[in-house]
Amino acid sequence: MAPLSGMNDAPGDHAASTITPEAARHVLAHHELVSSTPVPRDPGRRDLHVAIVMDGNGRWAKARGMPRALGHREGVAALRRTIESAADLGVHRLTVFGFSTENWRRPKREVMELMGLLRAYFHSDLKRLEHRGVRVRILGRRTGLEPDVLEMIEAAETQTAANDSFHLQVAFNYGGRADIVDAARAFAEAVARGDAKACDLNEALFEAHLSTAPIPAPDLIIRTSGEQRLSNFLLWECAYAELIFQDVYWPDYGPEHLRAAIEDYRSRQRRYGGLVPEDILAAS
Ligand code: FPP
Repeated sequence: MAPLSGMNDAPGDHAASTITPEAARHVLAHHELVSSTPVPRDPGRRDLHVAIVMDGNGRWAKARGMPRALGHREGVAALRRTIESAADLGVHRLTVFGFSTENWRRPKREVMELMGLLRAYFHSDLKRLEHRGVRVRILGRRTGLEPDVLEMIEAAETQTAANDSFHLQVAFNYGGRADIVDAARAFAEAVARGDAKACDLNEALFEAHLSTAPIPAPDLIIRTSGEQRLSNFLLWECAYAELIFQDVYWPDYGPEHLRAAIEDYRSRQRRYGGLVPEDILAAS
């Protein structure tokens, strides 16, 4: 595994830019004048947040005449490979979709298999992740999960809470809409208790109630298997993410695929609805 500790650059280690501090201040002042939207962060070369919809386990297995469960098991191996290579490719945060609020609709046996895989994954990998400085968080609803799975999730989060070399977030029993509803309910309850005022609600305050808080939104969302949709993943957080769809089943995923996705991402220009600073200056 690549050494994860100390992989991050200092803030401000962004892609080479010719913008002077004075010009940057001008751009930010302009933004604050016209918008209440928080200025999106611009990740450094080693500070990327990548999120992945690990799709295609079932089709991978079917193509080989194997049960779907084996596709999921191979999916765990692909996840391990991806985590191992991520820091070297400049990723500091990785969020993966392990089980959606809609996946309960699958046959009971497959649901059990996916629960079992989460157990097995933490059982086999948690110590290693912990020693490598990885902070683990599980996103999503805690309701409906077996008590031992809950215990495992809480232990994984507690044992790795002081780590900061790399952040691994596993969305499990997660749905983007459910997360938004839960955040709205939490804020409404705070208002009802007198701890918050409805008139103070803005995007930043709302965002603070999502289960993804305080981790910044993903810069890049990847979906494997050739399907091109988000399937209820990070619906709020995806607002300015770059989307990349790769034609590979998840169990076949490896560092070369992640590298290709990141190279594609780095070739794009993120404008967040505005202009790049050079163009603002040219226009003013
Ligand atoms: C989508 O493939 C994948 C899932 C629903 C589960 C993803 C889970 C893993 C990769 C296992 C690792 C998980 C954890 C939590 C350690 P699909 O079954 O929908 O594939 P298909 O579209 O080809 O049927």
